[in-house]
Amino acid sequence: MNHRNNWAAAACIAAAGLAFCLSAATERSAPTVQRPTTQNEILARRKALMEHLEKNFQNKLNVPPTDGRFLRIIVEAARVQKALELGSSYGYSALWIGSGLEQTGGHLWTVEIDAGRAKECRENIREAGLENTVTSIEDDAFKAIPQLAKEGPWDFVFLDAWKSDYKRYLDALLPQMSPGGLIVAHNTLERADEMPDYLEAVFNRPDLDSVTLSTTEWKCGLTLTCVRKTPLSDK
Ligand SMILES: C[S@@+](CC[C@H](N)C(=O)[O-])C[C@H]1O[C@@H](n2cnc3c(N)ncnc32)[C@H](O)[C@@H]1O
Repeated sequence: MNHRNNWAAAACIAAAGLAFCLSAATERSAPTVQRPTTQNEILARRKALMEHLEKNFQNKLNVPPTDGRFLRIIVEAARVQKALELGSSYGYSALWIGSGLEQTGGHLWTVEIDAGRAKECRENIREAGLENTVTSIEDDAFKAIPQLAKEGPWDFVFLDAWKSDYKRYLDALLPQMSPGGLIVAHNTLERADEMPDYLEAVFNRPDLDSVTLSTTEWKCGLTLTCVRKTPLSDK
């Protein structure tokens, strides 16, 4: 092989090397286009998360699944726009209420005093794809209620913090309820002895119309109270 041929071969090898390097660099620097998550994928993730919470936290604070489903049905059927929950824990009931509000275009504010549980609640809301529908607040409900007044009036309130506080929540929230607004209190059968003042008020005040029902064999008890602006004639 003469010199000219040697030079030609060397030039070819250099050109090929350069082309390889350029293509590798282009591959490395090409922006990765992420496919947007579909609604079906979000719903599948939410279902898996709720099943995980049911398995791992049953009897550890969260409502039974049928109570959660009941809350979602009420929220959706009543076309609730503004909802408040006191006592979020890990966010299980908030996921049910949030799923209903996703259909109505409404919003839930949920309050939890325990920092660890509030953090997990926020993570669960994000994981379930409900971060635009549910706002998780870490605070004492007694402090949060006056601060959240600007977000009301409330069409729907779910009481599920410590039971002996229910009557104080009722007194603080009644001025913030919309006419015909609904307050749902949890554990009103199995833990009625911890809230006699609450039950006495919701069943006897002429502006409140209440009924207690149970969706499970455990008979937790859900008391539904409709807040009227005009007193009832049958009390
Ligand atoms: C029964 S759990 C709530 C369960 C939740 N609603 C669910 O079904 O997934 C009660 C929660 O209320 C919270 N809590 C109690 N007193 C509170 C207060 N004053 N302010 C905010 N949260 C409170 C507790 O820390 C606890 O996590």
